[in-house]
Amino acid sequence: MNPDSPSSGSPASSDGPVSPDGLENPIPTGIQLMALDPAFREDPYPILADLRRRDPVHHDVQLGRYVLTRHDDVERVLRNPNHWSDPRKALPGSFSHEFLGRDDQEPSMLLMDDPGHKRLRNLVRHPFKPRAVAKWRERAREVATRVISELEEGEFDLIANVANPIPTVVIAELLGVDAELHEQFKIWSDASSKGAFGPANDPADVVAAEEASECLNGFFRDEIEKRRSCPGQDLMSSMLNTEQTDDRLTDEEIVSQCTLLLLAGNLTTSDLIGNSVSALLRHPGQLEKLRGNPGLMQNTVEEVLRYDTPVTNSGRIAHEDMEIEGVKIGQGETLSVSLAAANHDPAVYPDPDTFDIERKDTHHQAFGGGTHFCLGSHLARLEAAETLSVLMDRFPKLSLGDAGHRYAGNPSFRGFETFSVLGEH
Ligand code: HEM
Repeated sequence: MNPDSPSSGSPASSDGPVSPDGLENPIPTGIQLMALDPAFREDPYPILADLRRRDPVHHDVQLGRYVLTRHDDVERVLRNPNHWSDPRKALPGSFSHEFLGRDDQEPSMLLMDDPGHKRLRNLVRHPFKPRAVAKWRERAREVATRVISELEEGEFDLIANVANPIPTVVIAELLGVDAELHEQFKIWSDASSKGAFGPANDPADVVAAEEASECLNGFFRDEIEKRRSCPGQDLMSSMLNTEQTDDRLTDEEIVSQCTLLLLAGNLTTSDLIGNSVSALLRHPGQLEKLRGNPGLMQNTVEEVLRYDTPVTNSGRIAHEDMEIEGVKIGQGETLSVSLAAANHDPAVYPDPDTFDIERKDTHHQAFGGGTHFCLGSHLARLEAAETLSVLMDRFPKLSLGDAGHRYAGNPSFRGFETFSVLGEH
């Protein structure tokens, strides 16, 4: 990382397995490769670089998975349509089986295989296409303007006041939730996300998450009923609309897609907004460049997605016995792909740890790849760009606040719990 990055510079802590060469520090493994570990949470990149260099197809015995860190390996795994995502096909004891699935529950689209996955994705994908999403730009800007104009000059927490509320309001509007219910909707959505993605070590959070998701399910069912007799222009209505196809989603499927969109779209986009502001404030030269040339906004968002990747990991399940880089992997084992490591692979990106909003090659793995490629990528990019632009206009002098930051400990995500900024005119 650059000298002005949050890097602690230290590779892994010391109680993992010893390296096969017996000479260097132990190879980082298990929890050391997750945001639950304080060193990884603060700065995963030197740890992942160490792993990529010494053990690029790493058998993580602690968590039952193979961790891949090279760009090309990650891309190949994601784009292989034969690999599975359904945790019910995973080997008992493997990461996917133990942490992602429940035998008694139909998984969400993200964890489904064809033909079920293809069917669902086809039925919900239309409102997420670039043209359809472009219509949301103005609305996203209005939401960002409303939220940001309420902020007073001075020090404030960017996450609580900007990065968290904006994506929730945008997705609520997209789904067609009435404005007076947004506050309640946000409370349910936050509690339910915390249960789905948080470290889950507080039993009170688990109970609150279960209650919130019951409320959300009931709420979505009522909303579906309303739209049956009186359809609107929103996403829920479009999921009910069967005109373009002879297939249709059941009510339960619509409820579960709405929940997935909420869970998949909120935390991730909040993290992207927080990571963007952090990268720009820690690299004032880049921020000045962007202020001088707002045409660089799109490139800036792509560079943040690469440089400080909001979803650090995705995964697939090996569909057959195979060998990657000489490592034998059995059918049903978890292939855990590190998107964050792939995005910093020096074999692909010159100076990978440099934040450069004018970088020529802006491709990255931040939205995954292949058949499960993120459905909300265009929406997320647009929301981040509009939020950054409104924030920079409102506070021509924006800098780091005295209260500092705290990273969140959500496994597989990279983002802030709090991030203090000083907003001045
Ligand atoms: C910066 C924001 C976001 C990031 C970094 C992100 C990242 C990802 C990643 C890594 C995957 C898995 C892809 C794979 O394994 O190949 C994914 C899937 C998905 N994302 Fe996003 N996402 C973001 C925002 C959103 C938003 C705003 C929505 C919707 C409102 C969304 C909806 C989905 C859905 C539905 C899937 C499952 C797609 C499938 O299985 O076919 N995401 N996302």
